[in-house]
Amino acid sequence: MRTRRTVRAASGVWWIALTAARLSGQAPLGVNGLRVEYQSNPIGIDAARPRFSWRITSGTRNTLQTAYQLQVGLSTANLVRGGGLFWDSGRNASDASVFVDYAGPALASHTRYYWRVRVWDSKARVSAWSPITYWETGLTQPGDWTAQWVGPASTPADSLPSPSPLLRRAFQVKGPVRSARAYVTSLGLYELHLNGTRVGDQLFTPGWTSYTRRLQYQTYDVTALLHPGANAIGAMLGDGWYRGYLGFFGQRNIYGRRLGLRLQLDIRYQDGSIDRITTDGAWKTASGPVLSSDIYGGESYDARSERTGWAGPGFDDHDWSPVSVLEQPATTLVAAMSPPVRRVRTLRPIEIRRLPSGGTLFDLGQNFTGWARLVVRGTAGTTITLRYAEVLDRTGDLYTANLRRAGQTDRYTLKGEGEERYEPHFTFHGFRYVAAAGLPGPADSSTITGIAVSSDLAQTGTFETSDSLLNRLQRNIVWGERSNFLDVPTDCPQRDERLGWTGDAQVFSRTAAFNMDVAGFFAKWLADLAADQDTSGIVPWVIPNLFRDSVHFGGTAGWSDAAVIIPWTLYQVYGDRRLLERQYPSMRAWVDYMHRRAGTDLIWRPGWQFGDWLALHSDDPSYPGATTSTDLIATAYLAHSTDLVARAAAVLGKADEAARYQSRFRAIRDAFDREFVSGAGRVGENTQTAYALAIAFGLLPDSIVAAAGNRLADDVRARGVHLTTGFLGTPVLLHTLSGTDHLPLAFALLTQRSYPSWLYPITRGATTMWERWDGIRPDSSFEDPGMNSFNHYAFGAVGDWMYRNIGGIDLDSAGAGYKRSRIAPRVGAGLTSARASLETPYGTLASAWSAAGGQFVLDVTMPVNTSATVILWGTQVDRVQESGRSLNGAAGIRDVQQRGNDVVVVVGSGQYHFSTTRAPE
Ligand code: BGC
Repeated sequence: MRTRRTVRAASGVWWIALTAARLSGQAPLGVNGLRVEYQSNPIGIDAARPRFSWRITSGTRNTLQTAYQLQVGLSTANLVRGGGLFWDSGRNASDASVFVDYAGPALASHTRYYWRVRVWDSKARVSAWSPITYWETGLTQPGDWTAQWVGPASTPADSLPSPSPLLRRAFQVKGPVRSARAYVTSLGLYELHLNGTRVGDQLFTPGWTSYTRRLQYQTYDVTALLHPGANAIGAMLGDGWYRGYLGFFGQRNIYGRRLGLRLQLDIRYQDGSIDRITTDGAWKTASGPVLSSDIYGGESYDARSERTGWAGPGFDDHDWSPVSVLEQPATTLVAAMSPPVRRVRTLRPIEIRRLPSGGTLFDLGQNFTGWARLVVRGTAGTTITLRYAEVLDRTGDLYTANLRRAGQTDRYTLKGEGEERYEPHFTFHGFRYVAAAGLPGPADSSTITGIAVSSDLAQTGTFETSDSLLNRLQRNIVWGERSNFLDVPTDCPQRDERLGWTGDAQVFSRTAAFNMDVAGFFAKWLADLAADQDTSGIVPWVIPNLFRDSVHFGGTAGWSDAAVIIPWTLYQVYGDRRLLERQYPSMRAWVDYMHRRAGTDLIWRPGWQFGDWLALHSDDPSYPGATTSTDLIATAYLAHSTDLVARAAAVLGKADEAARYQSRFRAIRDAFDREFVSGAGRVGENTQTAYALAIAFGLLPDSIVAAAGNRLADDVRARGVHLTTGFLGTPVLLHTLSGTDHLPLAFALLTQRSYPSWLYPITRGATTMWERWDGIRPDSSFEDPGMNSFNHYAFGAVGDWMYRNIGGIDLDSAGAGYKRSRIAPRVGAGLTSARASLETPYGTLASAWSAAGGQFVLDVTMPVNTSATVILWGTQVDRVQESGRSLNGAAGIRDVQQRGNDVVVVVGSGQYHFSTTRAPE
């Protein structure tokens, strides 16, 4: 028997052990942050061998995992009590803690699995078991889907904008429910309701994919929404990308003409029995209050047409029509893998005033994507019109010319029953300003609220400096990402475009991965890219590809290279090897296509292409000689993507292919040099982009890199420290300057405020990245309204340089996914401090520095199970201290070297505080 004394004695022993551990710095080892595939506790995923990731905590520096043990059970009790485990990995000697493969027995369909993990570390400690988390499989077996496709009966108006149909079905729940899942997909968009409650908070479901090849379904845990007795389920459908207007040719019905719903509600009762409610001919349909909706055009809603209680039991649907059972569309259903689109922010008006043209203007202070929530009272039948715009014209009125054919207008007709609140359902707008016409009374700050919507990606990066303009630039980049990562990476959110432009996504992908967790988001999009790639290897301009049957819009240098560059980037930043493996055939196919298109001299002369899109052009008299030929750009990308395929092949253990692509890369590089490079280091037309691409892609002989860098720097200086680059040159411009010993010039260019520059738009009040350097010209006139978005992220690709150089956080090729990193912040442009952090797959990596009075202080935080090379520029080992002590011998420091004028320190996990007296740069 345990007496009170033995308990006290035991706790005393425990206390002594803990204190001893604290005193010796031996804080306990812990495991948390468990994830399966790209999410924590995902439900409805279809990976047959899901991958597990976890994070380790340790109070001591320099902790590495040496082994792990994973356990999977069908219940938490299984795990806690032991016995009956579904899978036990046993103690596995490995340092892998990210994307660890499941290696147990085959997983069943629609089943929840619980799991936990514990780890051993380099100091021979073992952690406690992690908290128990779970994942749930979706409908993974071919026979799992028994529901039929249903929709409203076909009418001649199917191809026209028409009211959103409501579909419903009443059903009985026979007794207490243990668990219930709804599996749902649609042709068009759907909003699901159960017993009068909107199910989940996901928007724009089932998402946008290459619908004819891959159609996503969502899984919802609806256990809490059911009750024994009478129940009802319903869905409202909208045109969305499926059959609404899409693309700049004014087309609709790109994927089909008829809306449809497929739904399966699986109910498991407490007594073990099972019921399944499915879409079938017993469902009924009627039109609802959404009179029309369109992604570009906006939504019209008549609250008088609401059918109160339509998705609840007891609703009288005798006058509703039976649905039609549709033919099964030829596509593959796949579980959603990207974080869903949600409402992510609300914005309050910063100004409300009368518009010169009548109506009330609400300024939300920030350009973004979403809509306005309207709160009003008034008489039935009053219609309020909300128009949306990004900027105001010179008269202070809405500027809408740049929206082209996109109407961006919502209309709400009141039902006249007290306070009414309205948000649109199946549209989104790119805007900062809302103009309301027809408001029944005076407006105040609660009349309109901005609702920002976006793929709900976790913020992973922070970046801040002592320069407020740079901080605004960073915020503008993040808003650009938030605005345009809406289920697919779009070019812009406002005009009749909003498409998954490959080039834009490619150049921005690395920056995107600093700011947010884009692993699942891009994994989804890349699956569509591969699905839409044609058999010759051509990658379409936009993914999902909507120009399927028309002209062949694709196969363009710098755009189609998204097929290679993004998987490689994701492998580098997340260590996602399986994604690389999945995409490898697509990567190769694109590179082989380019190779076939190149001449026997290995120069690809593609004729017209986008080239260095939106660069300052030679035909502009102020920019003589600024245009880079498409031959040079296409051949540079051919070389670069071939190089990356070779590297990917090496990572995937395909040694022969790695060697083949590597030698092909060298041959293309030599051809590039013969064709475009002079012995004196002149590249192509002597443009900034020509130098930037050639240097960044490693295409120049070592002996002339410095000369080429000098020529690039000369051109930048000759233009008064201004850039001339477009979509392809801009992302690599600063990297090539700082990489060829022109760091001060790179800083000067970054902080240039006069046009053209990154900061010029900020001096004009920009709150997002502009598509063009001169969206609003210095004389306040607008660029060509045919193409003048104020929310395009491509030029925001400079964020990558800021994180890596000012913040100092970078990858090290020795360990993908920041298993090994490099911390080497640079000082310049009069900055006195900067801090950056990144949630890596292993945990938080952070760097914060300040420079004042000849002192340089750098704080570094390293996640457990990783290491980094820290570089302190321009100082000597004996002038550097860590936490007040000399470097040699400080805990966690694995190596210290003086390399020329710089000190290079290798550290393990933990927090470090370096200080040094250093020469100014
Ligand atoms: C889009 C771009 C895209 C470009 C290609 C534009 O209309 O907005 O961002 O990359 O076309 O030419």
